Amino acid sequence: TSSLRILGIETSCDETAAAVVLRHADGRGEIVSDVVLSQLEEHSAFGGVVPEIAARAHVEALDGLVTEALTRAGVSLQEIDAVAATAGPGLIGGLLVGLMTGKAIAMAAGKPLYAVNHLEGHALTARLTDGLAFPYLMLLVSGGHTQLVLIKGVGDYERWGTTIDDALGEAFDKTAKLLGLPYPGGPAVEKAARSGDPERFDLPRPLVGEARLDFSFSGLKTAVRQAATAIQPLTEQDIADICASFQRAISRTLKDRIGRGLARFRERYPEENKPALVVAGGVAANQVLRATLQELCSAHGFSFIAPPIRLCTDNAAMIAWAGLERMAAGLPDDPMAVAPRSRWP
Ligand code: KG4
Ligand code: ZN
Repeated sequence: TSSLRILGIETSCDETAAAVVLRHADGRGEIVSDVVLSQLEEHSAFGGVVPEIAARAHVEALDGLVTEALTRAGVSLQEIDAVAATAGPGLIGGLLVGLMTGKAIAMAAGKPLYAVNHLEGHALTARLTDGLAFPYLMLLVSGGHTQLVLIKGVGDYERWGTTIDDALGEAFDKTAKLLGLPYPGGPAVEKAARSGDPERFDLPRPLVGEARLDFSFSGLKTAVRQAATAIQPLTEQDIADICASFQRAISRTLKDRIGRGLARFRERYPEENKPALVVAGGVAANQVLRATLQELCSAHGFSFIAPPIRLCTDNAAMIAWAGLERMAAGLPDDPMAVAPRSRWP
C-alpha cells in the first residue's frame, strides 16, 4: 500500500480544529499540519461550556481553520485522499457544524468521508505518536469522560470501566468553583495544591476495594463542599490544603481502580511482554496524576505512555489519524447520509 493523506475536523466540544495527517506506507503516522482554536475565553465568564455559543463559534472559525490546515500542509483538496470528521459523542450543534463541513468538502472534492467517534480518536492517538501495537489499555480522563478501555484493534474496543456520576475533569472543575478558583478548574486546583498539605483532609476514595472497574467522583466533590463550609472564612492556605487533599484522594482512587485494570490485562494477555497503559484527555495534563500512573505502571511492569498534552486534549490530528486507521484497515467509508450522534459509546 502507498501512503495516505487525510483532512481531519474536530468540533465536538469547545475546540475548533483541523489537521492534515499522513500515513506512510510502512504504517508510520506523521502530522503535517494541526491547528486548534480554543473557545476558552468565550465560555469562561459562564464557568463552563455553553453549547449554543460553542456551535456559533465553530461556524465562524471552521472554514478558516480548514484552509489554514491545508495551506500549512502545502496541499490542495485534490491531494487529500479522504476527509474525517468527528460525528460524536459531544455537543450536537458543534458536531453538526463539523460533520456537515466534512461532508461538503468530501462531496465537492469527490473523496470518501469517515465519520469518526471522538473517543476512538483519543484511543488511537498513541499509535500515531508512539507507534504502539495492539492490544493496550487506555485511560481517558477529560471534562466529559472517565473511561478505562481495552484497545484490541481498529474498531475493536472493550470498555472496562466508566464513571457512574461525574467525569474526573468535571470533579476538578466543580471543586474549583466551590473554592472560588477560576475556570477551567483543573489547572487552578493543581496550582493551588502545590503549596498545600495533602494529609490535612481525609477525603473519601469512592469504590476503592471493589472488583468492578468503574469510577465515582461526586461523593468526593460533596466532601470538599463539607470541608470548605466547615471553615469560614477560607484562607488561601485552607484552599491549598483542600486542593492537595483532593488530588491525594484521586491518586489513591486511581491507584486502586487502574491497578485492578492492569492486573486484569495481565490475566487476559499473559504472553504480552510489553504491556502499556496510555493516558488521554485534558486531565492528563495534571502532574500528580501522571506521577501516580507512572509509579503504578512501573510497579506492574507496564510502560506508561503519555502523548504530548496538545494531543491528549481535543485536536483534529487524532480524528484524522482515526480515519486513516480505518482506511488502512479496509473498513468502509461512511455514506453521506450519516448523522451526528451526541451520545455514541
Ligand atoms: O480533554 P479536554 O481538554 O476537553 C474535554 O473535556 O473534552 O479536558 C478538559 C478538562 C477540564 O475539566 C479541565 O479542568 C481538565 O481537563 N484539566 C485538568 C488540568 N488541565 C485541564 N485537570 C486537572 N489538572 C490539570 N492540570
Ligand atoms: Zn476529548
